[in-house]
Amino acid sequence: MTLRHFLSLDDLGADGIRRVIDNAIALKQKPLKKQPFVGRTLGMLFEKASTRTRVSFEAGMTQLGGHAIFLSPGDTQIGRGEPVEDTARVLSRMVDVVMIRNHSHDVLERFAAYSSVPVINGLTDRLHPCQLLADLQTYQEHRGDIAGKTVAWIGDGNNMCHSYLLAARLLGFELRIATPEGYGPNAQILKTCGERAVICEDAPQAADGADLVVTDVWASMGDEADREVRLADFANFQVNKALMSWAKDDALFMHCLPAHRGEEVSAEVIDGPNSVVWDEAENRLHAQKALLLDLLDAG
Ligand code: CP
Ligand code: NVA
Repeated sequence: MTLRHFLSLDDLGADGIRRVIDNAIALKQKPLKKQPFVGRTLGMLFEKASTRTRVSFEAGMTQLGGHAIFLSPGDTQIGRGEPVEDTARVLSRMVDVVMIRNHSHDVLERFAAYSSVPVINGLTDRLHPCQLLADLQTYQEHRGDIAGKTVAWIGDGNNMCHSYLLAARLLGFELRIATPEGYGPNAQILKTCGERAVICEDAPQAADGADLVVTDVWASMGDEADREVRLADFANFQVNKALMSWAKDDALFMHCLPAHRGEEVSAEVIDGPNSVVWDEAENRLHAQKALLLDLLDAG
């Protein structure tokens, strides 16, 4: 079996993403009768907080007959300075697959370089590819193929925005981005997206005629010290009813959660008829089960 990691959507490629999403939808409709992961273990390293990622991976492994181990720096030797390369070599001799959520994408890549089992990116400062699998699955379930559609990204040019840029290039949709000045996406990642990405003057321009409107917190994990400054800087970038009125009438609204009502999104939008955030959260479970089966050549 060839060793495959999932550090970025590029590791699956367009065909792989479509395959995993189709399988996620199938698993959701009809759970597997067999348990392909009996005796298999997922190691989960969390340097940052999580609700959805932890629970969806852990529940997913249980449903597939396997087991998941939660590890954090505070109660492992990682927190006492054991080199990431050493942790990778040790863990991968004991578990079948590893999921990591950490600050630095470079550290994730160093871990993967020394791991003998698949490594999954559970969110870094740069990318959150597992969330995109769930978002793309949710779009497909509600509206069909996302190719050729228009997606508006409103708010911070963060790890989620970067992941949408990669998805736009791979799956062929237009990503219109509206961020406050100084909060745009990483220039290198933006460049790889080519003509699929359009930087907009303001939020209404990005939302104009959009099929899907997406936002995320204004202060990601690690940005908490700037929170007050960010609240002021992002004031014109709230997804509210007025902004949604620029999008198509049947436009969907997504947010990876956790959300802050009254900041990046108004309660009437996130709790309103166009919002699919609960399906989106549930789909973390189905998409990651399909991803695990794919990376471990099981199922
Ligand atoms: N969306 C997401 O990754 O949620 P958690 O931070 O709760 O895992
Ligand atoms: N951009 C957010 C996503 C949380 C799931 C963060 O990195 O904190």
